[in-house]
Amino acid sequence: MTTDPITWAEISIPALKNNLGIIRKAAGNAKIILVLKADAYGHGALDLVEHLDADALAVARIDEAITLRNHGYHGRLLLLSPLINDQLIQISQQLKIDLVLHSQAAANHLLSMQLPTGKPIPVWVKIDSGMHRLGILAEQADGVLSQLSRNPNLHVVSVMSHFASADDLESNQTTEQLAKINALHKKHPSLDVCFANSAGIFFHPAAHFEWIRAGLALYGINPSNHQNELTQKLIPVMTLKARVLDIKLINAGESVGYNARWTAHKPTRIAVIGIGYGDGFPRHAVSGTPILIHGVEYPLVGTVSMDLITVNIGDADVQVNDIATLWGEGLSARKVAKFAETIAYELTTRLSQRVKRVIINN
Ligand SMILES: Cc1ncc(COP(=O)(O)O)c(C=O)c1O
Repeated sequence: MTTDPITWAEISIPALKNNLGIIRKAAGNAKIILVLKADAYGHGALDLVEHLDADALAVARIDEAITLRNHGYHGRLLLLSPLINDQLIQISQQLKIDLVLHSQAAANHLLSMQLPTGKPIPVWVKIDSGMHRLGILAEQADGVLSQLSRNPNLHVVSVMSHFASADDLESNQTTEQLAKINALHKKHPSLDVCFANSAGIFFHPAAHFEWIRAGLALYGINPSNHQNELTQKLIPVMTLKARVLDIKLINAGESVGYNARWTAHKPTRIAVIGIGYGDGFPRHAVSGTPILIHGVEYPLVGTVSMDLITVNIGDADVQVNDIATLWGEGLSARKVAKFAETIAYELTTRLSQRVKRVIINN
């Protein structure tokens, strides 16, 4: 037996489709990889996948790839950050998962194996153009690219790199990274390049090349503090909601919540709302974090508990059982994240299993 949930996340399929359309517009002729790692940034990959029409999907862990295959996704599927070993190579071949090779050692491992003849195995080669996370340094990639390209049992689909600061339009790092990849592309003109993340797609058209990888924008969140005509049309896919469980009157001088971090300076009406860090609402959200009720933003007050938050509703006509929006439609996750010193990616990804995902189809 179940009752209406206190806390839930609405997942809008029309918003998802809208965002994919916007990404398509922004990406021009580039082929589109949709990034569904971390359970589609917390949105629920299996609920979304059937609605996604793209050239490929990408995940970060082999288990995520296996889950998508078991669910019946047969399209191109990339494993972005694998730990290359015999077993992984075997599974990837069985399930037709494209591997991203991000080091000379990973390439050597593959090259040392007895590879099946016939249809060449597709691989992507990750280049470190300046982020210094995974990837073969751009200046050192010629050898490995030639080695892999010469092997008749392998097919290098594309080189791939990742931006460190594409969201920051004032940063020089993007130009520097682009210069390195352009130089490499010149030396290997027959290879595709896959570079742009969401911010790259919308704000750095020179980074589009042959393939783009879209994550955050697919979920309807602007990847940068900057806006343009297209980012303005993104619609949040996830709207996180919770019900008001009680309304309290707090006297002047009384405090609210753990460690008495907020004290009323005058008699204050407080709505107690059924969401907390046990649901993935960030515990570090400070007093003043906006909470949307009936289209109006009210400030969170006091410490976020495991299951509850407290909100200063002033004189507003807010009742028990009313619905608050924590982020999503009407209140961007990007805005809320700033009040918790985090980013929208972390907010949606950390939503806990306790929060029921309600799929909205129209
Ligand atoms: C390698 C790689 N490519 C693409 C993406 C997608 O980035 P975004 O969500 O900013 O579009 C990510 C996200 O973290 C990533 O790690």
